[in-house]
Amino acid sequence: MRLSVIGTGYLGATHAACMAQLGHEVVGIDADPAKVAALAAGQVPFFEPGLPEVLQQALASGRLSFTTDVSAAAGAEVHFICVGTPQRASSYAADMGQVWSAVEALVPHAAAGSLVVGKSTVPVGTAAQMRDRFAQSGAHVAWNPEFLREGHAVQDTLHPDRLVIGVESAEDEQTLRTVYRALLDDGVPMLVADFATAELVKVSANAFLATKISFINAMSEVCEATGADVTLLAEAIGMDPRIGSSFLRAGLGFGGGCLPKDIRAFMARAGELGVDQALTFLREVDEINQRRRSRTVDMAREAVGGRLRDKRVAVWGAAFKPDSDDVRDSPALHVAAALHTEGADVIVHDPRAMDNARELFSHLVYADTALDAARDADVLLLLTEWRDYVDIDPAAVAEVVTERHVIDARNALDPVRWRAAGWTYRGLGRPSA
Ligand code: UDX
Repeated sequence: MRLSVIGTGYLGATHAACMAQLGHEVVGIDADPAKVAALAAGQVPFFEPGLPEVLQQALASGRLSFTTDVSAAAGAEVHFICVGTPQRASSYAADMGQVWSAVEALVPHAAAGSLVVGKSTVPVGTAAQMRDRFAQSGAHVAWNPEFLREGHAVQDTLHPDRLVIGVESAEDEQTLRTVYRALLDDGVPMLVADFATAELVKVSANAFLATKISFINAMSEVCEATGADVTLLAEAIGMDPRIGSSFLRAGLGFGGGCLPKDIRAFMARAGELGVDQALTFLREVDEINQRRRSRTVDMAREAVGGRLRDKRVAVWGAAFKPDSDDVRDSPALHVAAALHTEGADVIVHDPRAMDNARELFSHLVYADTALDAARDADVLLLLTEWRDYVDIDPAAVAEVVTERHVIDARNALDPVRWRAAGWTYRGLGRPSA
């Protein structure tokens, strides 16, 4: 099929390349000329394992192109809207500016009978509004939320757990079945829903994941007050198949471009719908998540004797999670900046995210290697659990620091190994000795 993908950020670039990989003819359209030029040259402007290969193969096949010219969408049978919906500066609600600009740009080029498919995460009710906007041009609208995780974007797009579509006719369902034929043939289930349900599946999935993380982090607080160990507690409750062990990693909590802003936008939309009480628990989920960050700063302060001023703090990790260079709402950088505000000399290392981190927090100092960051440190904080840090030899790190205090804010290091190398090890939600 001929497809257009409007918005070639994380979601759109991955979707465009993967759809071409499935055999479709795809044009990716974005207002940012630098992004378009990079993608057209086979370069992915962010770190995503496996995506450069898929992009380059798709470009070489001749089925994938990129442009800033939205009129290139004219020949497509299906248009995917993949633009971002960040949090508004002044409230919890989603900023829908990019979505509506994309819609307005597309209206003159979406042919009668073509299908406009929303993939962006939006407030429930958006698909119906969009359908009304396209009504005069005769284009139809469908909703097809995306569940991809950064670091697993290609796998999640080509081998998703499920496809969810919100459609208003059997014809539109059929069109999407044709788009995803290869996945359906592989046995991926497709759930067919109305617009509102399809939109809500995405935000409620993210709300559930955020709740699960904050649940175990709330248990961390209780563990800290009682001397219990949250990692063992999580392992034990996770063995109950009704609970399940995934997303029960206690630590510094969730960040990134999705979970934090999605739960806030969901609360804002619930307020507009008059059901704000149904989601007030998400405020608590958000607060538990923020409290882990301040708890980590408290632990660093305690480790250096009660005052951070002029203490040297090594921070390992800047990305919001490993295998990503994304620093949007990164818990690691939030903690690093808070330590700096208290007067500490903060030295940050991250295997991939330092350029992005520098753009946001230019006042922090960045080191080229994990060991350089640790040099002469009074305390070392592990804030993003990159494999490089988990595998590092604690005895080698011990050689370069001033004081052997480590705070493992992701519960990723082996306390036995670190203690054996002479370190005072503290984990979030774990007993101190
Ligand atoms: C998330 C959803 O998983 C994905 O389905 C949706 O499409 C977009 O949002 P992503 O933001 O890429 O994906 O990251 P994810 O792997 O879900 O992690 C989110 C955050 O939660 C990270 O900061 C991670 O460190 C944290 N996390 C995750 C925990 O603190 N504990 C866990 O057990 C799991």
